[in-house]
Amino acid sequence: MICWLIRDRLKEKNLSGKYVFITGCDSGFGRALAKHLDRNGFRIIAACLSEKGCQELMASTSQSLKTVLLNLTDPSSIDDAVKFVRKETEDIGLYGLVNNAGRSMPMAPTDWMQLEDFRTTLDVNLMGLIGVTLKLLPLLKKSRGRIVNVSSVLGRLACIGGGYCVSKCGVEAFSDSLRRDMHHFGVQVSIIEPGFFKTGVTHLESIERELFRLWNQLTPEVRDSYGEKYFIKYLRMQRLSMNKLCDADLSKVTRCMEHALIAKYPRTRYGVGWDAKLLWLPLSYAPTFLSDMMLRMLLPLPRDGKNQASRFQIDV
Ligand SMILES: NC(=O)c1ccc[n+]([C@@H]2O[C@H](COP(=O)([O-])OP(=O)(O)OC[C@H]3O[C@@H](n4cnc5c(N)ncnc54)[C@H](OP(=O)(O)O)[C@@H]3O)[C@@H](O)[C@H]2O)c1
Repeated sequence: MICWLIRDRLKEKNLSGKYVFITGCDSGFGRALAKHLDRNGFRIIAACLSEKGCQELMASTSQSLKTVLLNLTDPSSIDDAVKFVRKETEDIGLYGLVNNAGRSMPMAPTDWMQLEDFRTTLDVNLMGLIGVTLKLLPLLKKSRGRIVNVSSVLGRLACIGGGYCVSKCGVEAFSDSLRRDMHHFGVQVSIIEPGFFKTGVTHLESIERELFRLWNQLTPEVRDSYGEKYFIKYLRMQRLSMNKLCDADLSKVTRCMEHALIAKYPRTRYGVGWDAKLLWLPLSYAPTFLSDMMLRMLLPLPRDGKNQASRFQIDV
């Protein structure tokens, strides 16, 4: 244990002035990481989805931080951002790539979704992440650099319908195969698995707006199988879990991202937050019958699901 702790604290030397490219810097973890690394001497290329995001970030960082527009659902936008990174880093190369951008909504029971609802999330969280990584791999191999992919505890325990868990399980699989393939070239790949934090992806009003949209477009048959009471309880459960679980301290996540970039021996996975360490990750290792039972206790019962009701149901 002591050896592990000492090894974990060893840092790479001479990282000052190295280039790190971070996606999703308009808000949340991406913005916090860009500001933190900028203060600590890295040269940051921060990708934002909007012009407003770029301007707000530039107003609060040093002149060495550069921003670039990036919409991960648009291949030509990915090409433009990659060209920009190539040009900026041609002197000393690209040291780090942090694939952070993501979206979470819509999240709801699976039969409330249309195929398009899955696609909107998968295009950003998975296909966008893979697209950027493939295009920047030649630069990262040249510099024997680092890749940090932001997944989620929901990439380890798929417990909500919609594209989010599917995309994050995909990020886990992609990162595992990438790590094994890149090992020979000295490129290290780490996965960040945050629990619930207060950011755009856990914004309660947006989650509720999406739930109302999905509920209102359900066919009468599907809606009847759940019943109005289910919807009300589902909303209440969302409110309760977002208010109780979400941690406002984003530095817990950015410290792990930084460790993955600067440690001599970066970890393969970083579970971040008390809920990740004490609840979600242990539950992901539990036998399926146990994790299913625990999750059934947290979620309300559909009206037509009463006959199969779990004896352990908790009324939220
Ligand atoms: N917060 C949590 O509890 C939590 C937990 C586990 C994992 N995560 C993951 O952490 C990462 C960062 O999210 P966050 O929590 O910091 O939320 P956030 O504040 O919403 O950050 C997500 C970032 O991605 C950007 N983005 C959205 N769609 C995009 C697109 N099509 N192309 C390029 N960029 C896009 C957003 O831009 P706009 O702000 O302009 O929309 C924003 O800058 C995500 O991958 C998320 O899945 C978050």
